[in-house]
Amino acid sequence: MTQLSGLDRLMRKTMKKAIPLSAHIMVTDRCNERCTHCYLPGQSKKKILALANYQKIFTQLRQAGTLLLTLSGGEPLLHPEFFAIAAQARKDAFAIRIYTNGLLINEQNTRKIRDLHPIEVCLSLYAAHASAHDSITQVPGSFQKTTSAAQTLAQAGVPVKLKTPVMHGNFKDLPQIRSLAQQIGAELQESPYLYPPGSNCANASQLCLSKENLLDFFSTKPDSHGKFRLQRDRTMDVNQHPCGAANNYVAIGCDGNVFPCPMFEQPVGNLLEESFLTIWNQAPLLQELRSLSWGDIDACLDCKLYSYCQRCVASVFASTGGLTAADQQACKIAEACAQSAGKNV
Ligand SMILES: C[S@@+](CC[C@H](N)C(=O)[O-])C[C@H]1O[C@@H](n2cnc3c(N)ncnc32)[C@H](O)[C@@H]1O
Ligand code: SF4
Ligand code: SF4
Repeated sequence: MTQLSGLDRLMRKTMKKAIPLSAHIMVTDRCNERCTHCYLPGQSKKKILALANYQKIFTQLRQAGTLLLTLSGGEPLLHPEFFAIAAQARKDAFAIRIYTNGLLINEQNTRKIRDLHPIEVCLSLYAAHASAHDSITQVPGSFQKTTSAAQTLAQAGVPVKLKTPVMHGNFKDLPQIRSLAQQIGAELQESPYLYPPGSNCANASQLCLSKENLLDFFSTKPDSHGKFRLQRDRTMDVNQHPCGAANNYVAIGCDGNVFPCPMFEQPVGNLLEESFLTIWNQAPLLQELRSLSWGDIDACLDCKLYSYCQRCVASVFASTGGLTAADQQACKIAEACAQSAGKNV
């Protein structure tokens, strides 16, 4: 049993009690890449929180029951106090995970990262070739830097996961991406689900896989891991919350704004003005999300695809302005997944 699957079990239990077990901290919104698919709204001039702010926030998160901090961004290593913030998180006994594009990782800070003992460092890899990866990040040389960071970290004994959103532009590279991950000694997380992209994206409709590509994806995908599994047998529990946002998961922006999750653009309060627990317990949007169960989502009741579905409430909110519609992209992906598993849907 892996550390993360144990964590997954704990996450399910905390959903019921509304304990924010996992917090996603976007320490900066600045970035040194311009990925075409990125869900973030783009660069801003927001003032970013400093170590002294995080010292207070971490104390409040501990009191609320948080155990895992994901340090992300933008590109988190661009925060001038990134290592001090990460060290503070470890001092406060949080487990930490780092999301990075790897561009700033070198031998010296690899040692610093190793000494933080993160549960994993997730690097984003979009292709197995420089031209395809660099055209997605819009930064020449980024493929070389990201793959070499992954290698350096893995060789130092840091658990490395490569994250690959599977899109029209990198779909054909998947077999080579899988081999590359194996060579590096990294786990690979591949997902065809794309959140609505932000300002770097010229044509969002061209990013997602076609139905034909999705069928191809599921027919070649190893079924042993990942969110999208061919073999599933889940029955809908109408009393269960549809997702972790506001139940055991929360996101904090670089200026202290609190969000239901990193993809949900609606702020529900700011930690420079109110305490975390005041926001967590009292923000109307968080309360509304917490009151929702699968039984409230009429469009999904009796859905035969439920077993294969990864419905995202942030995407539903972005496309409909509400919380209770079906998620059209999740429906399309679930249908392809079920068909590949030989289900008659
Ligand atoms: C927003 S980035 C932040 C951390 C870091 N800059 C990086 O790229 O890994 C976190 C992850 O979200 C993924 N991501 C960004 N936009 C996405 C989208 N529209 N759909 C799915 N995943 C997305 C990125 O590829 C990356 O793996
Ligand atoms: S996905 Fe790309 S553009 Fe978005 S934050 Fe990560 S590196 Fe920056
Ligand atoms: S596949 Fe679509 S309709 Fe079915 S449960 Fe998921 S979002 Fe709802």
